[in-house]
Amino acid sequence: MLTINPKEIKQSEVQKWLTGGVAPRPIALVSTISIDGIRNLSPFSFFNSFGSNPPVVAFSPSRRGKDNTVKDTYNNLVETGECVIHAVTIDIVQQMNLASAEVPSDVDEFYLAGFTPVESQMVRPFRVKESPFAMECKVIQIIELGGSNGSGNLAICEVLLFHIDENVITNNSIDPFKIRHTARNSGNWYTIADKNSMYELPKPKFDNPIGYYGLPAFIKNSKILTANHIARLAHVDKLPSIAEVEESCNNMISGDYSLLQMEFKDIISAGKPVTINECEQIIKSALDSNDLDFALKAMVYAGKFI
Ligand SMILES: Cc1cc2nc3c(=O)[nH]c(=O)nc-3n(C[C@H](O)[C@H](O)[C@H](O)COP(=O)(O)O)c2cc1C
Repeated sequence: MLTINPKEIKQSEVQKWLTGGVAPRPIALVSTISIDGIRNLSPFSFFNSFGSNPPVVAFSPSRRGKDNTVKDTYNNLVETGECVIHAVTIDIVQQMNLASAEVPSDVDEFYLAGFTPVESQMVRPFRVKESPFAMECKVIQIIELGGSNGSGNLAICEVLLFHIDENVITNNSIDPFKIRHTARNSGNWYTIADKNSMYELPKPKFDNPIGYYGLPAFIKNSKILTANHIARLAHVDKLPSIAEVEESCNNMISGDYSLLQMEFKDIISAGKPVTINECEQIIKSALDSNDLDFALKAMVYAGKFI
Protein backbone atom coordinates (compact mmCIF):
# COMPACT_ATOMS: atom_id res chain seq x y z
CA MET A 1 0.00 0.00 0.00
CA LEU A 2 1.12 3.53 -0.75
CA THR A 3 0.84 5.50 2.48
CA ILE A 4 0.61 9.27 2.19
CA ASN A 5 0.57 12.01 4.78
CA PRO A 6 -1.38 14.92 3.22
CA LYS A 7 0.71 17.39 5.24
CA GLU A 8 3.80 16.30 3.28
CA ILE A 9 2.46 16.81 -0.27
CA LYS A 10 1.17 19.72 -2.39
CA GLN A 11 -2.52 20.71 -2.22
CA SER A 12 -3.04 19.72 -5.87
CA GLU A 13 -1.74 16.23 -5.05
CA VAL A 14 -4.03 15.98 -2.02
CA GLN A 15 -6.96 16.97 -4.24
CA LYS A 16 -5.97 14.25 -6.73
CA TRP A 17 -5.86 11.43 -4.15
CA LEU A 18 -9.00 12.65 -2.40
CA THR A 19 -11.15 12.89 -5.51
CA GLY A 20 -9.79 9.59 -6.82
CA GLY A 21 -10.64 7.74 -3.63
CA VAL A 22 -13.89 9.46 -2.68
CA ALA A 23 -15.82 8.70 -5.87
CA PRO A 24 -18.15 8.68 -7.68
CA ARG A 25 -19.59 11.81 -6.05
CA PRO A 26 -23.07 13.23 -6.72
CA ILE A 27 -23.02 16.62 -8.39
CA ALA A 28 -24.97 19.61 -7.06
CA LEU A 29 -25.80 22.23 -9.66
CA VAL A 30 -26.17 25.25 -7.39
CA SER A 31 -28.10 28.38 -8.27
CA THR A 32 -27.47 31.50 -6.17
CA ILE A 33 -28.06 35.21 -6.62
CA SER A 34 -25.95 38.22 -5.59
CA ILE A 35 -27.32 41.10 -3.53
CA ASP A 36 -27.39 43.07 -6.81
CA GLY A 37 -29.55 40.39 -8.43
CA ILE A 38 -26.90 38.74 -10.64
CA ARG A 39 -27.71 35.07 -11.11
CA ASN A 40 -25.02 32.42 -10.64
CA LEU A 41 -25.01 28.73 -11.47
CA SER A 42 -22.11 26.35 -10.74
CA PRO A 43 -21.58 22.63 -10.14
CA PHE A 44 -20.08 21.20 -6.94
CA SER A 45 -19.29 17.55 -6.33
CA PHE A 46 -18.13 17.96 -2.75
CA PHE A 47 -21.79 17.41 -1.97
CA ASN A 48 -24.20 15.11 -0.18
CA SER A 49 -27.31 14.90 2.05
CA PHE A 50 -26.97 14.54 5.82
CA GLY A 51 -30.40 14.09 7.40
CA SER A 52 -34.07 14.06 6.58
CA ASN A 53 -35.63 15.68 9.64
CA PRO A 54 -35.02 18.48 8.89
CA PRO A 55 -33.79 17.67 5.38
CA VAL A 56 -30.19 18.88 5.24
CA VAL A 57 -27.70 18.93 2.37
CA ALA A 58 -24.17 20.36 2.25
CA PHE A 59 -21.64 21.22 -0.40
CA SER A 60 -18.31 22.99 -0.54
CA PRO A 61 -17.53 25.99 -2.76
CA SER A 62 -13.83 25.80 -1.92
CA ARG A 63 -11.07 28.39 -2.15
CA ARG A 64 -9.47 28.25 -5.60
CA GLY A 65 -6.37 26.06 -5.68
CA LYS A 66 -4.50 28.37 -8.05
CA ASP A 67 -4.91 31.76 -6.28
CA ASN A 68 -6.77 31.16 -2.98
CA THR A 69 -9.71 33.39 -4.04
CA VAL A 70 -13.27 32.49 -3.07
CA LYS A 71 -15.97 31.63 -5.60
CA ASP A 72 -19.03 33.69 -6.52
CA THR A 73 -21.27 30.95 -5.13
CA TYR A 74 -19.61 31.30 -1.72
CA ASN A 75 -19.96 35.10 -1.73
CA ASN A 76 -23.62 34.87 -2.72
CA LEU A 77 -24.36 32.32 0.01
CA VAL A 78 -22.71 34.53 2.63
CA GLU A 79 -24.59 37.61 1.39
CA THR A 80 -28.04 36.14 0.81
CA GLY A 81 -28.17 32.78 2.65
CA GLU A 82 -30.20 31.05 -0.09
CA CYS A 83 -29.69 28.64 -2.99
CA VAL A 84 -31.44 26.12 -5.20
CA ILE A 85 -29.62 22.80 -5.58
CA HIS A 86 -30.27 20.58 -8.61
CA ALA A 87 -29.48 17.00 -9.57
CA VAL A 88 -27.24 16.66 -12.61
CA THR A 89 -28.46 14.08 -15.10
CA ILE A 90 -26.79 12.75 -18.22
CA ASP A 91 -29.09 14.94 -20.37
CA ILE A 92 -27.63 18.16 -18.94
CA VAL A 93 -24.02 17.15 -18.30
CA GLN A 94 -22.54 19.29 -21.12
CA GLN A 95 -24.48 22.35 -19.95
CA MET A 96 -23.38 21.70 -16.37
CA ASN A 97 -19.76 21.56 -17.57
CA LEU A 98 -20.17 24.88 -19.39
CA ALA A 99 -21.61 26.46 -16.23
CA SER A 100 -18.41 25.48 -14.37
CA ALA A 101 -16.29 27.84 -16.53
CA GLU A 102 -14.40 30.38 -14.42
CA VAL A 103 -16.18 33.40 -15.95
CA PRO A 104 -16.34 36.90 -14.37
CA SER A 105 -18.83 37.51 -11.54
CA ASP A 106 -21.23 39.53 -13.70
CA VAL A 107 -21.83 36.63 -16.12
CA ASP A 108 -25.17 34.88 -15.66
CA GLU A 109 -24.37 31.18 -16.14
CA PHE A 110 -28.03 30.38 -16.89
CA TYR A 111 -27.54 32.26 -20.16
CA LEU A 112 -23.97 31.11 -20.66
CA ALA A 113 -24.97 27.44 -20.48
CA GLY A 114 -28.44 27.70 -22.01
CA PHE A 115 -30.47 26.81 -18.93
CA THR A 116 -33.99 28.17 -18.42
CA PRO A 117 -34.46 30.12 -15.17
CA VAL A 118 -37.76 29.49 -13.36
CA GLU A 119 -38.80 31.63 -10.36
CA SER A 120 -38.56 29.80 -7.03
CA GLN A 121 -41.36 29.81 -4.48
CA MET A 122 -39.55 30.22 -1.17
CA VAL A 123 -36.12 31.69 -2.06
CA ARG A 124 -34.75 34.35 -4.42
CA PRO A 125 -32.32 32.27 -6.53
CA PHE A 126 -33.89 30.82 -9.68
CA ARG A 127 -34.49 27.17 -10.43
CA VAL A 128 -33.12 25.34 -13.48
CA LYS A 129 -36.07 24.09 -15.54
CA GLU A 130 -34.00 21.37 -17.25
CA SER A 131 -33.13 19.46 -14.04
CA PRO A 132 -35.76 16.91 -12.91
CA PHE A 133 -34.92 17.35 -9.22
CA ALA A 134 -34.42 20.66 -7.42
CA MET A 135 -34.30 21.73 -3.78
CA GLU A 136 -35.02 25.27 -2.63
CA CYS A 137 -32.68 25.77 0.34
CA LYS A 138 -31.75 28.21 3.10
CA VAL A 139 -28.22 28.23 4.53
CA ILE A 140 -28.04 26.99 8.13
CA GLN A 141 -24.30 27.53 8.55
CA ILE A 142 -21.13 27.95 6.50
CA ILE A 143 -18.08 26.37 8.08
CA GLU A 144 -14.75 27.65 6.76
CA LEU A 145 -12.39 24.67 6.77
CA GLY A 146 -9.18 26.69 6.39
CA GLY A 147 -7.87 29.86 4.76
CA SER A 148 -5.42 28.45 2.21
CA ASN A 149 -5.53 27.31 -1.43
CA GLY A 150 -8.08 24.51 -1.80
CA SER A 151 -9.59 24.93 1.68
CA GLY A 152 -13.25 23.97 1.78
CA ASN A 153 -16.20 26.13 2.82
CA LEU A 154 -18.87 23.74 3.96
CA ALA A 155 -22.27 25.26 3.20
CA ILE A 156 -24.88 23.42 5.26
CA CYS A 157 -28.38 24.02 3.94
CA GLU A 158 -31.92 23.12 4.96
CA VAL A 159 -34.23 22.05 2.15
CA LEU A 160 -37.42 24.13 2.20
CA LEU A 161 -39.06 22.74 -0.92
CA PHE A 162 -38.49 19.83 -3.32
CA HIS A 163 -39.41 20.00 -7.02
CA ILE A 164 -39.54 16.60 -8.75
CA ASP A 165 -40.45 15.99 -12.39
CA GLU A 166 -43.27 13.38 -12.55
CA ASN A 167 -41.48 11.82 -15.53
CA VAL A 168 -38.76 10.40 -13.25
CA ILE A 169 -41.21 8.93 -10.73
CA THR A 170 -42.30 5.27 -10.55
CA ASN A 171 -44.50 4.00 -7.68
CA ASN A 172 -44.21 7.33 -5.87
CA SER A 173 -40.38 7.18 -5.73
CA ILE A 174 -37.60 8.57 -7.88
CA ASP A 175 -36.80 5.85 -10.42
CA PRO A 176 -32.98 5.61 -10.78
CA PHE A 177 -33.37 4.31 -14.36
CA LYS A 178 -35.52 7.28 -15.33
CA ILE A 179 -33.61 10.11 -13.62
CA ARG A 180 -30.23 8.95 -15.04
CA HIS A 181 -27.89 10.75 -12.63
CA THR A 182 -24.29 11.36 -13.51
CA ALA A 183 -21.55 11.55 -10.90
CA ARG A 184 -17.97 12.81 -10.70
CA ASN A 185 -14.88 10.66 -10.39
CA SER A 186 -11.38 12.12 -10.54
CA GLY A 187 -9.72 14.10 -13.33
CA ASN A 188 -12.05 14.26 -16.30
CA TRP A 189 -13.92 11.05 -15.46
CA TYR A 190 -17.62 10.77 -14.74
CA THR A 191 -19.97 7.88 -13.95
CA ILE A 192 -23.35 7.38 -15.61
CA ALA A 193 -25.94 5.76 -13.41
CA ASP A 194 -27.45 3.52 -16.10
CA LYS A 195 -28.38 -0.16 -16.45
CA ASN A 196 -24.79 -1.15 -17.19
CA SER A 197 -23.39 0.43 -14.06
CA MET A 198 -26.24 -0.11 -11.56
CA TYR A 199 -27.08 -3.21 -9.61
CA GLU A 200 -29.40 -4.08 -6.71
CA LEU A 201 -28.19 -4.88 -3.20
CA PRO A 202 -31.01 -5.58 -0.74
CA LYS A 203 -30.66 -4.02 2.72
CA PRO A 204 -29.51 -6.34 5.57
CA LYS A 205 -32.35 -8.78 6.22
CA PHE A 206 -31.57 -9.74 9.80
CA ASP A 207 -30.92 -7.67 12.93
CA ASN A 208 -28.68 -10.41 14.25
CA PRO A 209 -26.77 -12.01 11.36
CA ILE A 210 -24.30 -14.80 12.18
CA GLY A 211 -21.52 -12.53 10.84
CA TYR A 212 -17.95 -13.48 10.00
CA TYR A 213 -17.47 -14.79 13.53
CA GLY A 214 -20.18 -17.39 12.90
CA LEU A 215 -18.33 -18.83 9.87
CA PRO A 216 -15.83 -21.73 9.95
CA ALA A 217 -12.15 -20.78 9.56
CA PHE A 218 -11.76 -22.65 6.25
CA ILE A 219 -14.36 -20.32 4.70
CA LYS A 220 -12.79 -17.15 6.08
CA ASN A 221 -9.34 -18.24 4.82
CA SER A 222 -10.60 -19.40 1.43
CA LYS A 223 -8.52 -18.61 -1.64
CA ILE A 224 -11.43 -19.50 -3.95
CA LEU A 225 -14.27 -17.52 -2.42
CA THR A 226 -14.17 -13.74 -2.72
CA ALA A 227 -14.91 -11.33 0.14
CA ASN A 228 -18.36 -10.81 -1.41
CA HIS A 229 -19.07 -14.57 -1.42
CA ILE A 230 -18.00 -14.89 2.22
CA ALA A 231 -20.06 -11.89 3.36
CA ARG A 232 -23.16 -13.45 1.80
CA LEU A 233 -22.63 -16.64 3.80
CA ALA A 234 -22.30 -14.50 6.95
CA HIS A 235 -25.56 -12.73 6.22
CA VAL A 236 -28.04 -15.31 7.54
CA ASP A 237 -29.65 -15.50 10.97
CA LYS A 238 -28.79 -19.16 11.57
CA LEU A 239 -27.11 -22.14 9.95
CA PRO A 240 -28.97 -25.37 9.20
CA SER A 241 -28.11 -28.33 11.43
CA ILE A 242 -26.25 -31.24 9.87
CA ALA A 243 -29.43 -33.36 10.26
CA GLU A 244 -31.43 -30.75 8.32
CA VAL A 245 -28.77 -30.68 5.59
CA GLU A 246 -28.75 -34.47 5.21
CA GLU A 247 -32.53 -34.73 5.20
CA SER A 248 -33.04 -31.95 2.65
CA CYS A 249 -30.37 -33.44 0.36
CA ASN A 250 -32.19 -36.73 0.33
CA ASN A 251 -35.30 -34.85 -0.85
CA MET A 252 -33.55 -32.97 -3.69
CA ILE A 253 -35.05 -33.62 -7.12
CA SER A 254 -32.71 -33.57 -10.09
CA GLY A 255 -33.41 -30.90 -12.69
CA ASP A 256 -33.75 -28.11 -10.13
CA TYR A 257 -30.01 -28.11 -9.47
CA SER A 258 -26.76 -27.85 -11.40
CA LEU A 259 -24.73 -30.94 -12.15
CA LEU A 260 -22.17 -29.91 -9.55
CA GLN A 261 -24.89 -29.52 -6.93
CA MET A 262 -26.36 -32.95 -7.80
CA GLU A 263 -22.91 -34.52 -7.48
CA PHE A 264 -22.49 -32.87 -4.12
CA LYS A 265 -25.94 -34.03 -3.05
CA ASP A 266 -24.83 -37.60 -3.86
CA ILE A 267 -21.73 -37.10 -1.73
CA ILE A 268 -23.87 -35.84 1.17
CA SER A 269 -26.49 -38.58 0.78
CA ALA A 270 -23.74 -41.23 0.81
CA GLY A 271 -22.07 -39.53 3.79
CA LYS A 272 -18.75 -39.40 1.88
CA PRO A 273 -15.97 -37.07 3.12
CA VAL A 274 -15.21 -33.90 1.15
CA THR A 275 -12.06 -31.84 0.78
CA ILE A 276 -11.91 -28.11 1.51
CA ASN A 277 -11.29 -27.45 -2.17
CA GLU A 278 -14.32 -29.46 -3.33
CA CYS A 279 -16.48 -27.73 -0.81
CA GLU A 280 -15.29 -24.23 -1.75
CA GLN A 281 -15.93 -24.94 -5.44
CA ILE A 282 -19.51 -26.00 -4.79
CA ILE A 283 -20.15 -23.02 -2.49
CA LYS A 284 -18.80 -20.65 -5.15
CA SER A 285 -20.91 -22.25 -7.87
CA ALA A 286 -24.04 -22.20 -5.71
CA LEU A 287 -23.56 -18.53 -4.73
CA ASP A 288 -22.83 -17.52 -8.32
CA SER A 289 -26.17 -19.02 -9.29
CA ASN A 290 -27.83 -17.25 -6.33
CA ASP A 291 -28.44 -20.45 -4.35
CA LEU A 292 -27.40 -19.30 -0.87
CA ASP A 293 -29.37 -22.13 0.70
CA PHE A 294 -27.31 -24.82 -1.02
CA ALA A 295 -24.05 -22.97 -0.35
CA LEU A 296 -24.85 -23.00 3.37
CA LYS A 297 -25.71 -26.70 3.28
CA ALA A 298 -22.37 -27.47 1.61
CA MET A 299 -20.54 -25.39 4.20
CA VAL A 300 -22.25 -27.11 7.12
CA TYR A 301 -21.68 -30.58 5.63
CA ALA A 302 -17.97 -29.90 5.06
CA GLY A 303 -17.71 -28.86 8.72
CA LYS A 304 -18.12 -32.56 9.61
CA PHE A 305 -14.77 -33.39 8.01
CA ILE A 306 -12.69 -30.22 8.32
C1 LIG B 1 -18.44 18.30 -12.01
C2 LIG B 1 -17.77 19.45 -11.30
C3 LIG B 1 -17.68 19.43 -9.93
C4 LIG B 1 -17.09 20.50 -9.23
N1 LIG B 1 -17.04 20.43 -7.88
C5 LIG B 1 -16.52 21.49 -7.19
C6 LIG B 1 -16.54 21.48 -5.77
O1 LIG B 1 -17.02 20.54 -5.11
N2 LIG B 1 -16.03 22.58 -5.14
C7 LIG B 1 -15.53 23.64 -5.81
O2 LIG B 1 -15.12 24.60 -5.19
N3 LIG B 1 -15.52 23.67 -7.16
C8 LIG B 1 -16.01 22.63 -7.86
N4 LIG B 1 -16.03 22.66 -9.23
C9 LIG B 1 -15.53 23.86 -9.92
C10 LIG B 1 -16.57 24.99 -9.90
O3 LIG B 1 -17.76 24.59 -10.54
C11 LIG B 1 -16.00 26.21 -10.61
O4 LIG B 1 -14.90 26.69 -9.87
C12 LIG B 1 -17.00 27.31 -10.86
O5 LIG B 1 -16.50 28.18 -11.84
C13 LIG B 1 -17.29 28.14 -9.63
O6 LIG B 1 -18.16 29.15 -10.04
P1 LIG B 1 -18.52 30.45 -9.21
O7 LIG B 1 -17.26 31.25 -9.01
O8 LIG B 1 -19.47 31.11 -10.15
O9 LIG B 1 -19.15 30.02 -7.95
C14 LIG B 1 -16.57 21.60 -9.95
C15 LIG B 1 -16.64 21.60 -11.35
C16 LIG B 1 -17.23 20.54 -12.02
C17 LIG B 1 -17.31 20.56 -13.53
